[in-house]
Amino acid sequence: MSHPPTSKSRGLSSRAPRLTRLPVGRPTRIAVLGAGGFIGSHLVPQLADRPNTDIDAVDIDLDKLAPDLPRVRRIKARIGAPGLLDEITARADLVVSLTALCNPALYTTHPIEVIDASYTDLVPLVKLCTARGKWLVHFSTCEVYGRIALDGRGRPMHRMSEQDTALFLGPVHRERWSYAAAKQLLERVIWAYGQHEGLKFTIVRPFNVIGPRMDFIPGVDGEGIPRVLASFMHALMTGGELALVDGGRRRRSFVDVGEFVDAIVRIVDRPDACQGEILNLGDARNDVSIRQLAKELALAFRVLRPEAPPARMKAVRAEEFYGPGYDDSEVRIPSVAKAARLLGWRPRARLREMLPGIVADYLARYEDRLSGTSAARSAAAGGRRVR
Ligand code: UGA
Repeated sequence: MSHPPTSKSRGLSSRAPRLTRLPVGRPTRIAVLGAGGFIGSHLVPQLADRPNTDIDAVDIDLDKLAPDLPRVRRIKARIGAPGLLDEITARADLVVSLTALCNPALYTTHPIEVIDASYTDLVPLVKLCTARGKWLVHFSTCEVYGRIALDGRGRPMHRMSEQDTALFLGPVHRERWSYAAAKQLLERVIWAYGQHEGLKFTIVRPFNVIGPRMDFIPGVDGEGIPRVLASFMHALMTGGELALVDGGRRRRSFVDVGEFVDAIVRIVDRPDACQGEILNLGDARNDVSIRQLAKELALAFRVLRPEAPPARMKAVRAEEFYGPGYDDSEVRIPSVAKAARLLGWRPRARLREMLPGIVADYLARYEDRLSGTSAARSAAAGGRRVR
């Protein structure tokens, strides 16, 4: 399987020389909840690479996680399984919580499950970490900032900052914000336990992390609408049209998963600097429109599959694509000044550099499995419309 260049492989990381033992105070027993997801499957191998570190890797599905990682205990379970959180928090020094249903297509169709996964199911974890004095590194989301960046008086801001940007969600009937509201409330719960009950915590707000193994391809290893990258890759691999929601005018800032995971490892190694903090992690220099992303991805695909029919795009209305209740962030650009200061972290990979490795990964994982589908057959027969 081919992987995109990561900060590590490109020699961009300024990680300290390898230690054989970690200094006192650094966590060595780590539980990762959601270890089998896209980010978890990149994070666990990097954590396992730390000296004398034992990991409990928990998820309902661990297929994406490399097998046979040293000192990684694979636990296939729901976090709601009786006794699981109790067992995990008893053993770990640090719990990294990644579990969530993070796909906008679900926010309007399965909002109750979305809210439970991001809020209800995690409140017991917050309480257990507080009671046992365990450090909780919790993954929240850039979606908490909402539609656009506004300061506390409602004035536009260019970048979203942890300290100064207000959280501007849409009305309740716009169920798109069910996820963001649940994530925001859990942040507030964590913050309150930190301020008033002594919880050691760090909250991370990722901004559109992309890379190999992201999401699923409909009809192969999932159903429904995946995130934008997988949705476009599905269209490219099957000769379908890339659906540009509302013409693809919304903007996102993309960050490479290798660089993102490097930041998380830096957090884990800096408890003194990072406990009690909320940190944006993203890359403002990769702020592009979704239409631009579609064009760049199609170009990267063409390099690897020059014989494929030219990519075609179509504009679709958001409500037609996602159904009623959808809404969107217009633009979200992170300020990562705090992460730079606390972690010495500066992401460098440009979107154009990331895409070839990502396309190669999707082709390696899905091309064969898609070749028998009717969509792929009609693509081979002349690239007719398939969706
Ligand atoms: C996502 C999730 O809501 C969060 O879980 C997550 O924290 C956050 O992004 C992130 O990655 O940090 P969003 O960026 O809106 O939200 O989700 P995508 O599916 O990646 O969509 C990005 C944009 O592309 C949206 O404007 C969407 O309407 C559009 N889109 C999506 C298309 O134009 N075509 C598609 O086929 C799919």
